Amino acid sequence: MRNHRGQFSSRLGFVLAAAGSAVGLGNIWGFPTQVAGNGGAAFLVIYLILAFCLAYPALMAELTIGRHTRANIVIALQAIASNGFTRSFGKYTGLYGVLVASLILSFYTLVAGWVLAHFTAHLCKLLGVSGIVPWLTSDNLSRNLIFAFGFSLMTIGVISAGVHRGIEVWSDRLMPALLVLLVLLIAYVLSQEGAMEGLRLYLVPDFSRITDSRLILSALGQAFFSLSLGVGTMLIYGSYIRAQDNLPAIGALVTLVDTGIAFLAGLLVIPAMFVAQKLGVDIYQNGQLAGGPALIFNILPELFDSIGFGGQVIATAFFALLTIAALTSSISMLEVPVSLALETTTMARRSASWLIGLVIFSFTVLITIYFDRLFGLIVTLTTTYSEPLVGIVLCLYAGWVWNRNSLLNTLRQGNPAIENSFFWKIWPVYVRYFCPFLIFAAFVQSLNL
Ligand code: PFF
Repeated sequence: MRNHRGQFSSRLGFVLAAAGSAVGLGNIWGFPTQVAGNGGAAFLVIYLILAFCLAYPALMAELTIGRHTRANIVIALQAIASNGFTRSFGKYTGLYGVLVASLILSFYTLVAGWVLAHFTAHLCKLLGVSGIVPWLTSDNLSRNLIFAFGFSLMTIGVISAGVHRGIEVWSDRLMPALLVLLVLLIAYVLSQEGAMEGLRLYLVPDFSRITDSRLILSALGQAFFSLSLGVGTMLIYGSYIRAQDNLPAIGALVTLVDTGIAFLAGLLVIPAMFVAQKLGVDIYQNGQLAGGPALIFNILPELFDSIGFGGQVIATAFFALLTIAALTSSISMLEVPVSLALETTTMARRSASWLIGLVIFSFTVLITIYFDRLFGLIVTLTTTYSEPLVGIVLCLYAGWVWNRNSLLNTLRQGNPAIENSFFWKIWPVYVRYFCPFLIFAAFVQSLNL
């Protein structure tokens, strides 16, 4: 193994990078879509409960294992194993996690490519070059491939620059920009007619929906996807945290930022739909509030278009926001296979990033060409099933397999009094029994749907 590992240079650097990984299309696109499709505020309530009660403990399992082992998920799970069986099971689970991260990146790149194309379209309109706009905003193979490739190059470029100069520096720049854009957009939308109706749907729960099993499973999958769990991403970022940083506190901060941004994205998108409706846009599809591409690429742009020139500025800002969010997430996904290559072969970071990045892009090409057959399948396989399942194994390794004293020593770094804390009273039991059981229960329930 190489001993020159990268490291985040400050606590803030880590928080911004991990929050950058967590905050992505899942927050700004996925979350509002799920809220719209699952009865509004009922989904929001369940999501918040699951994010803090299940996803945060699972995030802590990944961060702690990562900082202790200072390695990628494959080596890490073997390093904390207690016997031959847990060592090989850890190895194969780790490899599966790396595969899942790579598959998520392959479809994420396609979606991010669409977003980048719409950003370019609005920028062109703003600059008065509108000849190319119909091509940029229509769903066609050449546009999809070109923009996915462009996005892939950006991801590879950042990762090949390394942990500090690539991931940290870019997250430090992009995350504050994202927050400022989001707040400005919300302020604008909430001042428009119709916004209050959307706000009511978003914030006043219909309690009859709260026990809906489909809703609970969707919220669980969304919480895991949103916090980038169950694929080794947070584990590898944890391995770059300095020894003096307090893990439970920064894990909590990352969870707060992630759920906070998802909440803000809902505050933007759901009221925006009702503002658009007031302007004559149809916001329903098959009797349900529209979500996904229809929402992001048709309804919202129609709203922006109706505002005139100011609306073009807002639309450009909105798609810039989505592109930034997607980039700080995609780099964290590519870091998973790249860190494995760096720590198990003699490859240099630059060549590993290019090689692996391009192999993953070739999957993006396949998904783009065979979209109807592959896209939904890979999204469901990775996000609904694989992330929670690998998450269960990570909790079991942190709770049962890893030696308790060694776990405590890792947490003591940066928090010497942890033994007397509320966290230490609750989390070890929680991650041992409740997390695996509850994730599994939600998962089994989904199979009966
Ligand atoms: N958390 C990201 C989002 O919400 O868009 C998606 C993601 C990033 C999933 C990194 C998995 C991952 F490893």
